Amino acid sequence: MQVVRTVPELQKALAPKRQQGLTIGLVPTMGCLHSGHQALIARAKKESAVVVVSIFVNPTQFGPNEDFARYPRTFAADEQACRESGADIIFAPTTEDFYARNASTWVNVGQVSEGLCGKFRPGHFQGVATVVTMLFNAVQPQVAIFGQKDLQQLAVIRRLVRDLHFPIKIIAHETVREPNGVAMSSRNRYLSDDEKCKAESIPRALQMAQSLVDKGETDAHRILTVVKENLSKLPDFQIQYVEIVNSETMASCPNIKRGECAIVIAGFLGKTRLIDNLILR
Ligand code: PAF
Repeated sequence: MQVVRTVPELQKALAPKRQQGLTIGLVPTMGCLHSGHQALIARAKKESAVVVVSIFVNPTQFGPNEDFARYPRTFAADEQACRESGADIIFAPTTEDFYARNASTWVNVGQVSEGLCGKFRPGHFQGVATVVTMLFNAVQPQVAIFGQKDLQQLAVIRRLVRDLHFPIKIIAHETVREPNGVAMSSRNRYLSDDEKCKAESIPRALQMAQSLVDKGETDAHRILTVVKENLSKLPDFQIQYVEIVNSETMASCPNIKRGECAIVIAGFLGKTRLIDNLILR
């Protein structure tokens, strides 16, 4: 496995692979890798001959009062995790090398990025769409893997790829969960043991919505009322949103269509922002 730091180095490493006609798969990450990321890398390995994992804590997707400075940076452990999962190349640029000085070009995908997390984290999806575009241009993969845990991010990336004609197949990988059901996230490190236990209520609330759908409920409002009431009993959890949306457009879904709608939750447990979702089937 090779570690490269700059775009020219990356392109030099990839050129012979391209010449051999090998397919390139990209797993974009911000590091602090966990088993969820390793599952994405394993999936990329199945889908492509050469797997590039990018590790870059992208400053432009953090708001001024967010956790950019304290976001965990664990490069040695990440390198090990990539090696174990079968990655071929780690691309880990510095901000100074990756963003041009006075960079002023931004990618905005519009409506799909505006609600939900977009509303609570202004500029977040502009930062994500811009850096992912930069990564797509630097790596030129045929395939890129994203976790379904960030459902709105996935919708934003799919829109970006469609609208800008990137010849890249986007693969969504199902959310990998802790044994207690909590979605794996690099930010789970911020949680105390007590908060980790409390966080179980979030996947339970998602399952509650699925149970109502299983019993034949199709009215999103009724489902949301039950779920919100339940989550409001969770101490220290400050809800940002609980919605049922179309998983492609992120528009509100008043009537459940199985397989098309997802229940999405975001909020702060203590000081840690958590998100989770479930496609209602
Ligand atoms: O999901 C993430 O880790 C990031 O948002 C991404 C896609 C790597 C862009 O910085």
